Amino acid sequence: MPTVQNYKNRRKQLLSAIETPVLLMAGGPMSRNYPANWHPFRADSTFLFFFPNPEPNAAALFDPKDKSVTLFLDERTAEDALWHGPVPSFTEMKKATGVSAIEKRSDLAKFVAKKCGKRQVHGVAIPDHRATTELKSITKERLDFYNAKKVGNADVLLAIAKLRNIRTEAELTEMRAAAAITREAHTVAMARTRAGIYEQELAGHVEGTFARHGCVPAYHTILSVRGEVLHNNEHHNLLHDTDLVLLDAGAERPSGWCADVTRTWPVNGHFSPEARDIYDIVLAAEVAAIDAVAPGVRYRDLHMTSSRVIADGLSQLGILKGDADDLVETGTHALFFPHGVGHLIGIDVHDMEGFGDLVAYEKGRKRSTQFGTCNLRLDIDLEPGMCFTIEPGIYFVPAILRDKAMRAQFKGQVDFKRAEQFLTMNSLRGFGGIRIEDDVLCTKTGPDVLTAAVPKERLAVEALVGSAGA
Ligand code: GLY
Ligand code: MN
Ligand code: MN
Repeated sequence: MPTVQNYKNRRKQLLSAIETPVLLMAGGPMSRNYPANWHPFRADSTFLFFFPNPEPNAAALFDPKDKSVTLFLDERTAEDALWHGPVPSFTEMKKATGVSAIEKRSDLAKFVAKKCGKRQVHGVAIPDHRATTELKSITKERLDFYNAKKVGNADVLLAIAKLRNIRTEAELTEMRAAAAITREAHTVAMARTRAGIYEQELAGHVEGTFARHGCVPAYHTILSVRGEVLHNNEHHNLLHDTDLVLLDAGAERPSGWCADVTRTWPVNGHFSPEARDIYDIVLAAEVAAIDAVAPGVRYRDLHMTSSRVIADGLSQLGILKGDADDLVETGTHALFFPHGVGHLIGIDVHDMEGFGDLVAYEKGRKRSTQFGTCNLRLDIDLEPGMCFTIEPGIYFVPAILRDKAMRAQFKGQVDFKRAEQFLTMNSLRGFGGIRIEDDVLCTKTGPDVLTAAVPKERLAVEALVGSAGA
């Protein structure tokens, strides 16, 4: 866990970067049915970035005028002590967080009005609509989390993003710890894989591993023999001997820092000739993009590097027809690689995606409108300290490969008969998909793969699968 001083430094950096007061909200607990039965509380990511162990309903006012940070917390009551045990006092919380002052949460609006007077206060909209509505009533801004143009004042968002984008050593230590736990979860799932069990059994091992280390899943665990369904949240399929398992799972530390890793392996421990060919292309596409990481490199070029390797590989297998550059130019590769090569990762698994393309796309750059490339979530120039994923994949998606319009548009570039063989293999379940994903830190001298310890070489993966026995 970063130290109180680490958090103080981050807050000091924000105070130096803003000209007007900024009000942040942690958000509150969501009730499942009656108020005391909550969904697990998780503070908004920007709040987590600036404060250790945020309490539900916390708020914080950053005032650049006197360089103060005031933290607002719910008042302590005898009821709290009865139901939740001893709760630290405001004095104890001031020490634990290192803020300038702690005030009563119920006084938030009154306190902000008095301290800031006529100065404009800017807020940052968060996924908790109730907190955002309250924030709007205080700052009088048009805030809305799910509307990229209304998340907050652009200068404030960019000031926050500048800090959240470049990791300190303490933050990297957290990400490396999340990566180590994620490695354990992936290797446990590989070792426990065998035909005849359900996906949920392996998903339980993955999430149980996170829990044993005090972590939660950073996002809904994708564990499926239907790897072609990109964000498949179901775990109800039975594993067949000839299936491929795709696991996309990452641990989130109590501090919020997380990992996001994908591996794919054969249920029976042996890649079929077709799976081996596709796996080798995906791995080559991943490694080529990682090897190209360096300060100043445009992230979109990493996407194009992976796309070309995939186009070339599929062309050599006779699934695509033609030269890799032409296939990428026409967007043909996207029929098999329809998503972007990755995204920022940090305290959010898709870090700051809630800020929209303001942060993810360099000023003046716009999303492509081409199928596939339009899903590229990131197009910035890399700097030392930035962390992002590299996650190419090849998928055989019936909805794409049997689409009449796609077949007409790409009939010169795709051997759809050959593609159909992949859609119907494996007792008609189809090939599915293969993705390989790692988390990468850009350093002055090139890439540092934070998740490198999760096995991905084909032979290492095959050796692990099923090794736990029945
Ligand atoms: N786990 C979702 C993703 O890889 O983006
Ligand atoms: Mn990812
Ligand atoms: Mn992922």
